[in-house]
Amino acid sequence: MDTKQIEDKYQLPTYHKFPLVIEKGRGAYIWDEKGNRYLDFYGGHAVALLGHCHPAVIKAVNGQMRRLIFYSNAVYNSMRAKAAKSLVSLAPGSFSSVFFCNSGTEANETALKLAKKFTGRDEIISFEGSFHGRTIGSLSVTGLKKYKENVGSIISKVKFAKFGDIDAVKKLITKETATIILESIQSIAGVREASGKFYQQLRKITKERKIILIFDEVQTGLGRSGKMFFGEHFGVMPDLLTLAKGLAGGLPAGAVMVSEKIAKSVQYGDQGCTFGGGPVISAAILSTIDAIQKEKLCENAGRVGKILKKELISLSHVEKVTGEGLLLGIKLDVPAKEVQSKLLKKFILTGTSDDPNVLRLMPPLIISKKETDYFLSGLSKVLGGGI
Ligand SMILES: Cc1ncc(COP(=O)(O)O)c(C=O)c1O
Repeated sequence: MDTKQIEDKYQLPTYHKFPLVIEKGRGAYIWDEKGNRYLDFYGGHAVALLGHCHPAVIKAVNGQMRRLIFYSNAVYNSMRAKAAKSLVSLAPGSFSSVFFCNSGTEANETALKLAKKFTGRDEIISFEGSFHGRTIGSLSVTGLKKYKENVGSIISKVKFAKFGDIDAVKKLITKETATIILESIQSIAGVREASGKFYQQLRKITKERKIILIFDEVQTGLGRSGKMFFGEHFGVMPDLLTLAKGLAGGLPAGAVMVSEKIAKSVQYGDQGCTFGGGPVISAAILSTIDAIQKEKLCENAGRVGKILKKELISLSHVEKVTGEGLLLGIKLDVPAKEVQSKLLKKFILTGTSDDPNVLRLMPPLIISKKETDYFLSGLSKVLGGGI
């Protein structure tokens, strides 16, 4: 049996896969088992913020592996201390602490739990079209219905407002509302954004009503939107902010940034995670943050995103381009899946979304002008070639 057949036989069949066996990655490129090179505008599922196999992450992880692979939060560790300090120092607003975990869904579960404990209230407001993860709590606040079909009961005290509609939010607020959770750009739904004013109004009303505002920045965080954190575009910072995806340069990590007022109320035992903030992951987080800053990747994401937006809109079959920085949705008047397959034949990987007409781009933040031009020329040929 070859690799595909073995995986299909032994791995639970929960994923749609590209028909590729990928064995190597460097920068914005990946290679299949036959040695074919692909330009990765799918970004390893929006994880490869720094590109694949960033040398600084390899060095940091290798060095830490030789010293100590793992010890839990039952002891102190210098690498965890540095990673926590570095992450908190990055964030504007009143964040004073971080909680480390392993994934985006765990980060959201933690944020919801902290918000409920802090307020002593039980109701949650989320948004239609959102995606927050696959475990029961995160699934309960996920607005996209198809992810929750046939899973039986989930957390019931969740209401969904139309994304971007502040009046709809106001109507759902009660004395029992603990928190509002928001995917800053609704990526999987088709890269949907709200207006800057909406995020500002949301901040205002949550402050007035003493409701905890959570931004799920699992995809947008750490520079992908062209700012380190999405809310910086509009001068809005939430009370809790969740991160994952590229946080540890490709190793599994999640984090919740916690504002001072909430942090002060947290006590021993309120939350825990065996592997969260382990020494190797912390070394990876530290080196990732360092590389984002040293290589000015937020700026690059903003700059390249602008170029892409400007060029993409002039291509045939493109109706609209949404998103910020290097999280972009190309709304087409033809099925995105067909375009994606044709791009794959040209050795370019892209994403689709829940909107069948939206092609999603989540390339590494390191992409150069040359790689951008190569992508644009490939897409232009596909779209101009009689789709
Ligand atoms: C916005 C958002 N939140 C949460 C998650 C869940 O993250 P994970 O798969 O690491 O649990 C994802 C995953 O794609 C996501 O895009």
